[in-house]
Amino acid sequence: KFPKPFTVPFTVPSVAVPVKRTSTTDYYNLTMRSSQTEILPGLSTETWSYDGTFGGPTIRATKGRPAVIRQTNELPARHPQLGYEPWTSVHLHGSGSLPQYDGYASDISRPGQYKDYHYPNWQNARTLWYHDHGVHHTAENAYMGLAAMYTLHDEQEQLLPIPHGRYDVPLLIRDAMFDRNGQLLYDDGGHSGIYGDVMLVNGRPWPVMKVERRKYRFRILNCSISRNLRFALSTGDPFVFIGTDAGLMQQPRSATSYRHGIAERYEVVIDFAKYKIGQRVVLKNLGVPNSVDYDTTGSVMAFDVAAEPTDLSGNAIPDLLNPEAPAMDLTAAMAKRTRKFEFIRKDGAWTINGRTWADVVASDYEYVWADPNLGDVEVWEFVNKSGGWAHPVHVHLVDFRVLDRNGKPPSPWELGSKDVVYVGENETVRVVMKFGPHVGKYMIHCHNLVHEDHDMMAQFRVGPKVA
Ligand code: C2O
Ligand code: CU
Repeated sequence: KFPKPFTVPFTVPSVAVPVKRTSTTDYYNLTMRSSQTEILPGLSTETWSYDGTFGGPTIRATKGRPAVIRQTNELPARHPQLGYEPWTSVHLHGSGSLPQYDGYASDISRPGQYKDYHYPNWQNARTLWYHDHGVHHTAENAYMGLAAMYTLHDEQEQLLPIPHGRYDVPLLIRDAMFDRNGQLLYDDGGHSGIYGDVMLVNGRPWPVMKVERRKYRFRILNCSISRNLRFALSTGDPFVFIGTDAGLMQQPRSATSYRHGIAERYEVVIDFAKYKIGQRVVLKNLGVPNSVDYDTTGSVMAFDVAAEPTDLSGNAIPDLLNPEAPAMDLTAAMAKRTRKFEFIRKDGAWTINGRTWADVVASDYEYVWADPNLGDVEVWEFVNKSGGWAHPVHVHLVDFRVLDRNGKPPSPWELGSKDVVYVGENETVRVVMKFGPHVGKYMIHCHNLVHEDHDMMAQFRVGPKVA
C-alpha cells in the first residue's frame, strides 16, 4: 500500500499571497478547511489545512513589516474519526506576539468563527511555523494537517552569501499512520504518543528531490505530533548547522548525526558539489529510544544529484553568520533567579510540577507557574522525571540559550538561539532567557502534542497581575 521509497517527487509548499498590502502591513485571509489530498498514490485522504493545501501555505514575512492574518475556521462540525468539535487557536511558534494574538489554548474559534491575528515581525530573521493550539485537541488538529511554515527575513540574513531563493528549501517532516482507505488514523496509545509508519516531507511520503551540484540550505522542522528524530546522511557526511529555532547561529557548527526534537527548527547546509551526477544521498532517521520505530521510518527522503549548478550565488558558509543572535549573550550569572520545572506522569496525567492546565482552568486562568518581571533574566531548569519519555519543552514569547544538559555542554547544533529544547530520558536541561518585550500570560508546555493535550501545559506571567 505504500509507494516505493524515493519515487514520489519532492515539492515545496505554496507561498501565501497577501490579500492587501498597505505601506506598513501585509494582510492575509486564511481558511482552515477540510480537503482531499492524494498522499498515498491512488488514495484520497481527508486533510485539514490553512487554505486547503496539506503542509501549507508558507508565509514569507519581512522584519519590520507587521502581518495581520484573518484565520477563519471552516472545519467540519465534527472530526471524522473522533467526533469532537474542532475548535482552533492559531499559534505562530517563534514569534514574540502580544498575548491576545499568541494562540492561547483557551482562546478558541469554533467552526464558523474567525479571529484576526496581528504579528509584529519585530524579530531577527528566523524559521517560524504556525500550527493549531486549540485546548485539548491540538494533537488531533495538527495531525490532520494544521501546521505550516512562516519564514521571517531581514537584511542581515539576505545579504549573507548563504543559499537563498530556490536553494533555500523548507522541509516539514512528520510521520503519519493511515487506515485501509487511506484516511489518517489517530491512535495515541492511551495518551502516550502517536507514532506513524509513513514519513512525510512537505506532505509527501519518502519523496525524492533532484539537486544540483552545489550547496543547499534546508530549513528542517520536525512537525511530528510525538516522534523525535535522529537524522544522518547515507554518505556519512556532516550536516553544517547555520540556524536554530530563533534564527542564524553566531557561527556554523557541524555534526554527522543529530537529534531533532518535535517543534525544533534547524537550518542545515548540505553541499552536493562533492558528489557525482547520478549519486543518491538519503536522509536517514536513526531513531531515538523514546519513539516507536517501524521498518519504514528509518529513511525520510532522498536527494538525487542530477545536474551541474545553474547558479553559484550564495554558495558559501561564512565563518561568522550572526554576531547578534538573540539570547546568546545571556549567562547564568545574570539571572535573578532559577526556577525548576519537573515533567512527571502522575495518575495517568502528564504534569509540570504536579500540576496541569486543569489547574489553570480551575483558577479562572490566573494560576501561573512563574511570574518574572519585564526585563528579568532567569534560569529555568527542566527536569525529566518520567522514565523513558522525552519532553521537547517550548517556552512561548522568548528566545533562550541552552546552558547545559545533565551538567554537560549542549550539543553543537544547540549552540544557537532557541525556543524549544529537547529534554530526553532522565535529562535535566538548563536554559537562560530574558522576559519581554511584552507583559501578560504565555504558555510553556511539552511539544509532544499528546502530552500537551493531557495536560502537560503550564503558563507564566510577565509583569504584575492585572486586575
Ligand atoms: Cu509550537 Cu505552544 O507551541
Ligand atoms: Cu512530553
